[in-house]
Amino acid sequence: MQKTVLITGASSGFGLSACEEFLAKGWKVLVAVRGGQTRIPLFAGLLAKYPDRIEILELDLTDRKSIEALAQLLDTRAPIDGLINNAGYGLFGATEDTTDESLRRQMEVNFFGTFTLTQKLLPALRKSRGVLLTVSSIVGRHSLPLTGAYCASKFAVEGWMESLSAELKPYQVDCYLLEPGGYPTGFGTSLDWSQPAEASAYVAATKGYQILREKISRRNQGKSISPVGQKMVSLLEKRPKGLRHLIGSDAVMTALLGKILPANLWHRIVSNIMNSLQRRNSL
Ligand SMILES: NC(=O)c1ccc[n+]([C@@H]2O[C@H](COP(=O)([O-])OP(=O)(O)OC[C@H]3O[C@@H](n4cnc5c(N)ncnc54)[C@H](OP(=O)(O)O)[C@@H]3O)[C@@H](O)[C@H]2O)c1
Repeated sequence: MQKTVLITGASSGFGLSACEEFLAKGWKVLVAVRGGQTRIPLFAGLLAKYPDRIEILELDLTDRKSIEALAQLLDTRAPIDGLINNAGYGLFGATEDTTDESLRRQMEVNFFGTFTLTQKLLPALRKSRGVLLTVSSIVGRHSLPLTGAYCASKFAVEGWMESLSAELKPYQVDCYLLEPGGYPTGFGTSLDWSQPAEASAYVAATKGYQILREKISRRNQGKSISPVGQKMVSLLEKRPKGLRHLIGSDAVMTALLGKILPANLWHRIVSNIMNSLQRRNSL
């Protein structure tokens, strides 16, 4: 029987890749994107190839009405078999330079909106004994300096999903966290940087971190993102054991180091990143 998956943030990057991979595997895909039907041109090729198996729906995770409207629409349909909470973005910069507004927006998209949407779709997932996958990050396990708000949003997602996976066990709904390393998606260009004021203590370190990120982005440029979409399909179809799934050699290496190094040493290494960014860029 044909299965249906709802993918949030399917307008680019991992979400769009997942959309292509699920369609290629015969799934029906509901893409939830900001702007709904106005984003049709983005999916023109896929709509032409799979006219009966792709549907574009409106979702803005910062807007409760939009979440509610999507949930109500889906309530009138056969229950979905999978929900992929993929939409998200990064708020980077020093804690002292972060505005209340940008912090709240970060949590709204990456955590609160994602939580609320899931909450509303859980009855359907329980009915279908479906799968819930939320895209976290390697920084949802190990945080880095100057990314506190983003790390906090992903740590929140991880704690919530860990609890939820146990909560849903009796209903045979399987839960997964996908923890990618760095990939060349829209993530880098849509980063919201907390810009330090001239008098900020973090001007040099923020500048240094921005330069470092650009370097890493250039290095990741040729990396294919298809494995991420393929991994999502594989998790939903094979339903392996284990909540957390890493993807990307940098994520695997970071997780390994985090496991084998004593916690104090790991923390010293990460702190040294900050020290060196600050030193090198204040010259
Ligand atoms: N790329 C990486 O290196 C990396 C690494 C680890 C984790 N991740 C995670 O992977 C997930 C996907 O990101 P990506 O790398 O594929 O980046 P991306 O290409 O920028 O895609 C992000 C998606 O989230 C959507 N989105 C942003 N704000 C939204 C909102 N308020 N409501 C609904 N949708 C919203 C965007 O929609 P619009 O087109 O409307 O902006 C876009 O479709 C994110 O959760 C990110 O944190 C990425």
